[in-house]
Amino acid sequence: MAYIELKDVTYTYPLVKEPALKNITASFEKGKFYGIIGENAGGKTTLCNLIRGLIPHFYKGKLKGEVTIDGQDLRELDIDILATQIGYIFQNPFTQISGVKKSVFEEIALGMENLGIPKQEIIERVFEIAKVLNIENLLQNNPNALSGGQRQKVAFASIIAMDSDTFVIDEPTSQLDPDGTAGIFEIIHTLKEQGKTIILVEHKIDLLAEYADEILVLQGGELIKKGSTQEVLTDFSLLDRGVMLPHTALFYRELEKTGKKLDHVPVTRNDCMKQLRDRLV
Ligand SMILES: Nc1ncnc2c1ncn2[C@@H]1O[C@H](COP(=O)(O)OP(=O)(O)OP(=O)(O)O)[C@@H](O)[C@H]1O
Ligand SMILES: [Mg+2]
Repeated sequence: MAYIELKDVTYTYPLVKEPALKNITASFEKGKFYGIIGENAGGKTTLCNLIRGLIPHFYKGKLKGEVTIDGQDLRELDIDILATQIGYIFQNPFTQISGVKKSVFEEIALGMENLGIPKQEIIERVFEIAKVLNIENLLQNNPNALSGGQRQKVAFASIIAMDSDTFVIDEPTSQLDPDGTAGIFEIIHTLKEQGKTIILVEHKIDLLAEYADEILVLQGGELIKKGSTQEVLTDFSLLDRGVMLPHTALFYRELEKTGKKLDHVPVTRNDCMKQLRDRLV
């Protein structure tokens, strides 16, 4: 059985009529990297809230269908225990910063302290992750006085440091420049290599294409497409529905118009380069 299973799930927030998720059936296996894409208000954050148990434990509303995590009904799970298994990086980093700590160092350490990790190990991990994210110079700063991009990195660091088995990450690079974005993707890739399960909401489709195993497309609360990254991101009909595809796939189409055809639609740069090289030889 898959780690997380959703069967015909429909969820409506309190005081509204329109469900934010409609008849969603999907499963998430351990150790895989899932990318969630789709237009604004498509239901991506709502799906994250559900997987992390904030729906139905924090957001009430109406939840229909079945959700299980490791075979257990989400409705019956202890949300505090779930928090130690699933690290959730919120879309809005302002929500994530605790507001009670005086330095970025303490902020990143907070989650680990709550988990009861020994002090020496906490210190080592904070320095380690700050180095990787290039925020060592911020460690003594006040978390409330950071820029949006800095907050995003600190929020990311504080959750990653807790070293859960699964990470649900909602648009972690929205406020970051290309360098910052690449850094975050490298870390997520490393986590995947360590066997973690990753569920990532991200608009940067070229990067998702490089790293994700599977893609889910949400639109108007419906799951309009799911499958392997190669399968989903080469479905040109998605373009008509406002979904962006990787540049390499668009390049394939342009090339085709000139009468030149690659072997198959590439979604990664390496595949694209390899096919071009093969044709040139
Ligand atoms: N707390 C809430 N109460 C009522 N409706 C909500 C709440 N949060 C989200 N919604 C609605 O649910 C729908 C899905 O929103 P959601 O935030 O999940 O979309 P999203 O795909 O994450 O969008 P974005 O790309 O803007 O982050 C939207 O119509 C939104 O207005
Ligand atoms: Mg969202």
